[in-house]
Amino acid sequence: MRYLTSGESHGPQLTTIIEGLPAGMPLLDSDINEELARRQKGYGRGRRMQIEKDTVQITGGIRHGYTLGSPVALVVENNDWKHWTKIMGQEPLNPEDEAEVKRKISRPRPGHADLNGALKYGHRDMRNVLERSSARETTVRVAAGAVAKKLLSELGIQVAAHVIEIGGVASSVKEYSSLEELKEITEESPVRCLDPDAGQKMMEAIDTAKENGDSIGGVVEVIVEGMPPGVGSYVHYDRKLDSKLAGAMVSINAFKGVEFGIGFEAARKPGSEVHDEIVWDPERGYYRKTNRLGGFEGGMSTGMPIVVRGVMKPIPTLYKPLQSVDIETKEPFSASIERSDSCAVPAAAVVAENVIAWELAAALVDQFYSDRFETLKATVEEQRKFAREF
Ligand SMILES: Cc1cc2nc3c(=O)[nH]c(=O)nc-3n(C[C@H](O)[C@H](O)[C@H](O)COP(=O)(O)O)c2cc1C
Repeated sequence: MRYLTSGESHGPQLTTIIEGLPAGMPLLDSDINEELARRQKGYGRGRRMQIEKDTVQITGGIRHGYTLGSPVALVVENNDWKHWTKIMGQEPLNPEDEAEVKRKISRPRPGHADLNGALKYGHRDMRNVLERSSARETTVRVAAGAVAKKLLSELGIQVAAHVIEIGGVASSVKEYSSLEELKEITEESPVRCLDPDAGQKMMEAIDTAKENGDSIGGVVEVIVEGMPPGVGSYVHYDRKLDSKLAGAMVSINAFKGVEFGIGFEAARKPGSEVHDEIVWDPERGYYRKTNRLGGFEGGMSTGMPIVVRGVMKPIPTLYKPLQSVDIETKEPFSASIERSDSCAVPAAAVVAENVIAWELAAALVDQFYSDRFETLKATVEEQRKFAREF
């Protein structure tokens, strides 16, 4: 299963085409719109979130609420397109428009793709880079992830994400009785945090960063329950499922690190305090007494909850200017901007949840492939039973 995305931040629309979904899986546009709305929420986001109000159009691959087996095409229109038709139009410019549109971007912003992208493609107008490198593209990654989440939920697999740190303020609530409870609490929190006190302090930290013309990052955690054991591979490096999740996490704009379970703590502990002891009972089959490794051994799922965290750097566009160089004049200048989010960690948690969901769904479809969704469902159930009784 794979997907590509296309579209620029201020272009007419974003598009994704998903290939490889089995036929007969239920899917409604509301399944996707719910996730798109979640991505747009969050304390610390700028004006664009009010303009956007993203909704999906399903333009292929679905009939009467079910997948057909053909590619599923999803489109999210840019509601602000009317203001960008000249700057982002596909037609060659008319001579009379040239002056208006000649506002070339020649000043790369530190921390963005601007300069490297210009050097790669030879773009002297760095709008050609930033329009695509913008995190606006995560809208359709979330749309594809929403389809994956639907597939997972039909197979009894739940995915949730929450924010555990922003700008140095860490959540001290580590316990929750169920993923349902975690979802309910974090959905009500403007920063998607389980700990209301820490959540308040996170919002204060965001306000302070904003007042100072600065930005702050944080840490998000994605938890998955219900994944059958043995998905992924120890046989081939490129089929290890934990490595795919790590790649997916770091593929999100501004994500710089990833860890599973106790993560980097493992470097500071003896093996006896890192590895999870194996036990068996007839109800559950094999399971681990603890889950310090976060649901993976040998590149495969253990059947324990998958716990994966990602680190988001502070947003690079700052009101407080950083030094850069104009590529036309080679003169130094201070990069400043008109508008930007000061913290996008809560929204990024939703993106993380969805890109992780995608990798898990793709791994299941890869390993238990069937053209028919009913068969996929039965095979996954069979794997669970097999593992319990093995
Ligand atoms: C949900 C989300 C929203 C973002 N919003 C902004 C933003 O408003 N301004 C900005 O400068 N960067 C924003 N970013 C981060 C940049 O897109 C990212 O840092 C940039 O593309 C460079 O990529 P890199 O940081 O992965 O190297 C956002 C990232 C995410 C995940």
